[in-house]
Amino acid sequence: MARITASVYCSHVPAIGAALDLGKSNEPYWQPLFQGFDASKAWMRANTPDVVFLVYNDHATAFSLEMIPTFAIGCAAEFQPADEGWGPRPVPKVIGHPELAAHIAQSVIQDDFDLTIVNKMDVDHGLTVPLSLMFGQPDAWPVRVIPFAVNVVQYPVPSGRRCFELGRAVRKAIESYDEPLDVQVWGTGGMSHQLQGPRAGLINKEWDNAFLDQLIADPDALASKPHIDYVREAGSEGIELVMWLIARGAMADVPKRDGNAVTGKPPHLARRFYHVPASNTAVGHLILENNQ
Ligand code: DHB
Ligand code: FE
Repeated sequence: MARITASVYCSHVPAIGAALDLGKSNEPYWQPLFQGFDASKAWMRANTPDVVFLVYNDHATAFSLEMIPTFAIGCAAEFQPADEGWGPRPVPKVIGHPELAAHIAQSVIQDDFDLTIVNKMDVDHGLTVPLSLMFGQPDAWPVRVIPFAVNVVQYPVPSGRRCFELGRAVRKAIESYDEPLDVQVWGTGGMSHQLQGPRAGLINKEWDNAFLDQLIADPDALASKPHIDYVREAGSEGIELVMWLIARGAMADVPKRDGNAVTGKPPHLARRFYHVPASNTAVGHLILENNQ
């Protein structure tokens, strides 16, 4: 059977991708950020999964503002890096896992979550920047990726509770796939940032770090946090953090959606990193391991 080995959490910022692509990662502004991911890349080389189920948000790139699914699962064989206005990033194409994606769609939809099936889409910085942070600049990504896009751009966006419950359903789906695959679930986006209006540039280090503490230790309580708290405390784009609850809900210490009691130990914290600033964003990062 497939198993979830770990969850990974990190911000995405377009400027991080541009810094890498333009060879600026050793400049004084960027060096501390990329240095913070060196140990994570080493961990990833030692723990490369077969598949990453990558929760991210599309920024009006693949879906535009004409049609916005709340939850969309990428079932295609491959996904091209999107042109977000400056040409596509010079990164490898993303190879999907259509069989596992179709299985997850079947299981999760039958578990009462309505997913949009996506058979063709380009992937924007929300997906490619986390891949770059964790894998660097390889000729080909060393994993298959199932893109899972969440609407956090156009209100109404899903609640933290809904995201956490969806993570539980995703775990049930992955663990019922009849092939011995190692799968990681990534939650990306955030942390505190606001890109517009009088509060543009808002960063809240204390709130971000309390969020990380609670995500590790008590995600069920964190899932009850209302949207307005994210927006007040972490800025309008801080709402991207609800996506992290999908990855956390898929970990072994959270019961699956089949009525089973808790089956796993709390995850092992393999990495924690926090850095300000990266463009307008606070960058947070965790790696949590199952199966210790
Ligand atoms: C920035 C951050 C984002 O999450 C995003 O989608 C776009 C820009 C920024 O900090 O510049
Ligand atoms: Fe974003």
